[in-house]
Amino acid sequence: MSHALAVINCSQLVTLAGARRPRVGGELRSLAVIEDGAILVREGHIEATGRRREIERFITAECEVIDAGKRVVMPGFVDAHTHPVFAGIRANEFEQRASGATYREIAARGGGIRFTVRATRASSLGDLVKASKRYAEWFLRNGTTTIEAKSGYGLSVEDELKILRAIRQLNDETPLHYVPTFLGAHDMPSEYKSRRQTYVNLVINEMLPRVAEEKLAEYCDVFCEVDVFTTDESWQILSAARCHGLGLRVHADQLSLSGGAKLAAELNAATADHLEQTDATGIAALKAAGVQPVLLPGSVYALSSNRYPAAREMIAAGLAVVLATDFNPGSSPTPSMPMILSLACTQMKMTPAEAISASTINAAYSLGRGDEIGSLEKGKRADFVIHDCEDYRELAYFFGVEHANRVYVDGRSAFSRDATGQ
Ligand code: NIG
Ligand code: FE
Repeated sequence: MSHALAVINCSQLVTLAGARRPRVGGELRSLAVIEDGAILVREGHIEATGRRREIERFITAECEVIDAGKRVVMPGFVDAHTHPVFAGIRANEFEQRASGATYREIAARGGGIRFTVRATRASSLGDLVKASKRYAEWFLRNGTTTIEAKSGYGLSVEDELKILRAIRQLNDETPLHYVPTFLGAHDMPSEYKSRRQTYVNLVINEMLPRVAEEKLAEYCDVFCEVDVFTTDESWQILSAARCHGLGLRVHADQLSLSGGAKLAAELNAATADHLEQTDATGIAALKAAGVQPVLLPGSVYALSSNRYPAAREMIAAGLAVVLATDFNPGSSPTPSMPMILSLACTQMKMTPAEAISASTINAAYSLGRGDEIGSLEKGKRADFVIHDCEDYRELAYFFGVEHANRVYVDGRSAFSRDATGQ
């Protein structure tokens, strides 16, 4: 029997309908909001959006009707940069940083990413899936319906494959949609410290062919940074990944202006992520190459830095800006896209509308899914959220609040606050 669903009585139906490409410049402010809107869903896809009285004409007897109660309804957030599969947590390092230690100092003494690598290597696939299901629930209850998910806490052939298989299993066993990215070059494993090229060769000659053969990832990423991977090493890995048909993403210019943005431009990567230190030359290079910047203010905040990426300059330059959480156990332990919207508006002076475009439609395009998700338009997947507010600007304005009241993925309920008794 066909499954049909109508959502009526939306104070604002934030559709983000528009041209079939990422939003740039002034377009980021146009959310195509329908006041007193409604939406019709059939077989997990959007059939129509419009004013309530237009949509009500199509409601038939078998159609499930949901009253949004004059709340905002919008597409699920698309979080285009996360590290959601790891074992253990780093609350002790968080405490050390609160007492003055820096992220780099902790990393230099074997903590940081390496701490998580040791714990993740010691975990079974089943334990990793179990730990990560908790985070999947957090993403959903914050209104996120698709995440990009990186490996990178294994750093050996079998452990990287284990993480990517965990991501595949999570995609099958949770309502959240995962887009997998191979990040074998997240850090130099300590056992290869004096044999760097040997590790780069391992990534290129053993990990990438297995990842590609088993179709475990759509993208390849590298942490290009002083003391991590040089631009030359990053270039070798990313070029090899491209030969295997993977799209490219780059951790670029996070802690130092180390050439990551320029490298992403040279390689025509899909995205360059972080960009806290990127200058005008880097911005111009991204623009010329059509690379989307993925800005991660959660990591700037959690590392107690005040150096946020230059979002206004990037928007002025015509870049199709994306916002993401960078959810990970070290530099950005938040799954909350509304928290990121708050930081984008208060610290980077983006408007709430720009921030919403950056975390839905633009994020979808950065993952090669602009035709499937990121807006509420006929034919797209019915991934949408009823938020507990009347005006979309409240999502960025009230911070530290879980706004999502009900979350739907593929037209089916994936989270309901009422069901949890709240
Ligand atoms: O995106 N920059 C590198 N990777 C992560 C941090 C991962 C960690 O600390 O575990 C990031 O910030
Ligand atoms: Fe990251």
